[in-house]
Amino acid sequence: MTRRRADGSAGDADYGTIGGAYAAYRRPEPRIAALIEEALAGARTVVNVGAGAGSYESAAFEVTPVEPSASMRAQRPAHLAEAVDAVAEHLPFGDDAFDAAMATFSVHQWSDLKAGLLEMRRVARGPVVILTCDPDRVRDFWLYEYAPRVLDTEARRYPPIRDITGTLGGRCAVTTVPIPADCVDGFNEAYYARPERLLDPAARQSCSAWSFVEPEAARRYAEHLRQDLASGAWDERHGHLRHQPYLNGSLVLIRAD
Ligand SMILES: C[S@@+](CC[C@H](N)C(=O)[O-])C[C@H]1O[C@@H](n2cnc3c(N)ncnc32)[C@H](O)[C@@H]1O
Repeated sequence: MTRRRADGSAGDADYGTIGGAYAAYRRPEPRIAALIEEALAGARTVVNVGAGAGSYESAAFEVTPVEPSASMRAQRPAHLAEAVDAVAEHLPFGDDAFDAAMATFSVHQWSDLKAGLLEMRRVARGPVVILTCDPDRVRDFWLYEYAPRVLDTEARRYPPIRDITGTLGGRCAVTTVPIPADCVDGFNEAYYARPERLLDPAARQSCSAWSFVEPEAARRYAEHLRQDLASGAWDERHGHLRHQPYLNGSLVLIRAD
């Protein structure tokens, strides 16, 4: 049985505590949205599991969002469908109820990954599309020099890609998603060329892994980055990234047919 917190949060992060500014910092990035839309092409009805504030829900589809956290549901813009209060591990829909299923930045938080993926497979006639991070590549990012325990947390939480593809079965395509330098969806790697943005505590809080380290450690990590930016040490090592239009980091898109 999935444990739920006061606001209904059903994963390993408590969005009742950390989710207040989520929608302001985690906006859908249009170039990533286009790749998701392409992966879902041909579908009319789509279930979005762990839908949060509605990022990546395209108007091209009739979307049924599923979101357990009341704090996240409250941040959904009025033009999007109201989210169903349910968890991935028990989707309240019949077999083959939708043409396709999607989940973005969510599977790493579920208490039972396998149950959630099998539920997505059960309710979708067509493709299951997952946007997630490859844990084997999470520590390649420069932030590991500053916030090692934050990225260790990410690497531990994100399920191995083979666990996802193995559970979904069928034909699976896994592609690296290029992250644009001005990415408007504020996950950690989105700031690869704009390190100053991670000095903002609200930007850090919108990436749930930061909530797994003590506030004092998070402050220390940010202070180290601030000092290296002020001294020029960060730019000496990584300044070339400021001019790199895309980063091929840990972000991947999985489509299982
Ligand atoms: C990082 S947010 C991503 C939200 C949105 N998909 C996006 O791309 O911005 C993770 C979401 O997964 C949801 N979540 C966590 N555990 C879940 C579960 N067991 N079932 C369904 N959703 C879950 C959280 O409540 C949260 O809204």
